[in-house]
Amino acid sequence: MKTITVHASQTYPIWIENGILSQCGELLREQVKAETAAVITDDTVDQLYGKQVTDSLEQSGFRVVKFVFPHGEASKCSKTLNAIYDFLCENAITRTDCLVALGGGVVGDITGFAAATFLRGLPYLQIPTTLLAQVDSSVGGKTAIDLPGGKNLVGAFKQPVAVLCDPDTLRTLPSETLADGMGEVIKYGMIRDEKLFALLEQYNLETIHEVIGTVIANCIDIKRQVVEHDEFDTGERMILNFGHTLAHAIESYYHYETYTHGSAVAAGMCMMAEKTCAPEIYKRLCDCVTAYQLPTTVLAPMGELVPLCGKDKKRASRDLRYIVCEEIGNAQIRSMPFAEFSAWMGGTTA
Ligand code: NAD
Ligand code: GLY
Repeated sequence: MKTITVHASQTYPIWIENGILSQCGELLREQVKAETAAVITDDTVDQLYGKQVTDSLEQSGFRVVKFVFPHGEASKCSKTLNAIYDFLCENAITRTDCLVALGGGVVGDITGFAAATFLRGLPYLQIPTTLLAQVDSSVGGKTAIDLPGGKNLVGAFKQPVAVLCDPDTLRTLPSETLADGMGEVIKYGMIRDEKLFALLEQYNLETIHEVIGTVIANCIDIKRQVVEHDEFDTGERMILNFGHTLAHAIESYYHYETYTHGSAVAAGMCMMAEKTCAPEIYKRLCDCVTAYQLPTTVLAPMGELVPLCGKDKKRASRDLRYIVCEEIGNAQIRSMPFAEFSAWMGGTTA
């Protein structure tokens, strides 16, 4: 079993191994003294993996209770959160008990936020079951729910007690959801790791399973380094947002219906690279993105996308910060007055 240890405000292990889902009970037992494990999951993941996780937890002596909500981003809201709080009250969950987030980023984010806030905080285990959740959302302690006014507007930093990552669970993912995660994987290669990028260039969406464990471990280790340097997102952590300034605008322009997050990130990276990279680097990125069945651009006019970039909640005053990778493996944070950025991107004139 590969273990990566994160040294943030809380130190915790990330275990990566095919088949370790069935050992989640014994592994969690090493981390917490909890009597009860409250599993939070969605209906799709529950059907696939709920019993395996419950059985393993019970075999390790946990009393197990389970809350299941409908899959999808629409569930990452205050209504579901309140239902989770009610469920934890009904089951007499105490601060020494433990939550278990079993699922993709939606489950991880809302369970993490419940763990940060219920009884002013209790431990939680992340068991990510999508590629995006394994390489990104389960690591680093960002938790959140969405509001009608925007995504992830209410949240907290709350590190898990551990992350259990079983690449075998990715075999049941629809290919579009796997591709979505590959958008973030390609991003890691672009921002920090040319060798990872070169490895990705040798595979495609059908064949990546052959090396997925290595790829996941590389991505998690990059995220670990970034989080250890800037846990609370005041500087370096922003490099994880390569492609995201345009991606958020693309998702919003299409009302979160046409492009998944990972596909919007892929297009956002390529569109930014076209403006900032040498042609051969832009071509390598586009070829890699295409091999994973992701888009390299969108039809929406830049003039309509750029104003939506300004709505990013992380925007600092009148300046807009964005990430460029002029070379593969080397990200830089840039800042420009919004009007100048708009003119430079071909939106409106300054
Ligand atoms: P998701 O949780 O909605 O999962 C996608 C779909 O896959 C769901 O329908 C789910 O039921 C299904 N699924 C999950 N695991 C499966 C499996 N093994 N087999 C078959 N189906 C499975 O979406 P996601 O892409 O995992 O996560 C997106 C969320 O993550 C967004 O809310 C985003 O804001 C958040 N996010 C958070 C961070 C962070 O740092 N906290 C980072 C990136 C994204
Ligand atoms: N997904 C971006 C971050 O964790 O900061």
